Amino acid sequence: MRIIQCQSKEEAIKYVSTLVIEKIESKPNAVIGLATGRTMIPVYADMKILLEKSHYSFKKCFFFMLDEYMGLPENHPSSFKDYIRTHVIKPLGLLESQFAFPPVHSEGPELHYEQVLKESGGVDLQLLGIGGNGHVGFNEPGSLKNSRTRIVRLTPETLKANADQFVDNQIPTEALSMGIGTIYESKSLVMLATGKSKADAIKYLMNHHDDPSCPATFLKDHPHFTLVLDPEAASKINLNI
Ligand code: GLP
Repeated sequence: MRIIQCQSKEEAIKYVSTLVIEKIESKPNAVIGLATGRTMIPVYADMKILLEKSHYSFKKCFFFMLDEYMGLPENHPSSFKDYIRTHVIKPLGLLESQFAFPPVHSEGPELHYEQVLKESGGVDLQLLGIGGNGHVGFNEPGSLKNSRTRIVRLTPETLKANADQFVDNQIPTEALSMGIGTIYESKSLVMLATGKSKADAIKYLMNHHDDPSCPATFLKDHPHFTLVLDPEAASKINLNI
């Protein structure tokens, strides 16, 4: 695991957005896995700025999403699909046909998504956030290292952390999430953690390995895993020890 401890939140965001641009520089038809959540919003905004300054484009790329809530009507404003439209597709001028959305309205969504992932040739670069309880995608504590795309039940901590994204806090209790084993097959992983609310999860991640109570620990031995931290997220670890 490569750890990048940044001097500011802005620097951490810029580090991640630059990695994505470098990926399309080296592989214009890269397959990129996107994470949702508040952490990633400024990364997508910065990607737009960097793209406008460069001659690179995402036109040949294909994108996957990590997860989606179950049980929401199509086009629900709090769905992750809507998030991706708002923060990625519209601002970057992309087409919905460049995206594989977790098929939450299809029969057998788990196998369907795994099949589309396989047919794409696999994810070249997967962006990841981390939940305050160490979840990745929606792989909550208790998830297995070899878990695949599946419907998961969200923990009370996750429901609480994300309820404010929903009118009247009516958040679904289940989601479809790529599994840890699915995520691990990406050629490279970039996890961004910013803010004080992530400090405990990052401390736990640093000190544990293959621990189901913090699913992010399963990714530590991935050969190309970069963890990017701002000062607050890194405030409970000491990299000099
Ligand atoms: C969300 C998503 C994750 C995200 C994490 C952290 O619910 N399922 O992909 O990384 O929880 O979210 P945030 O960035 O809002 O803290």
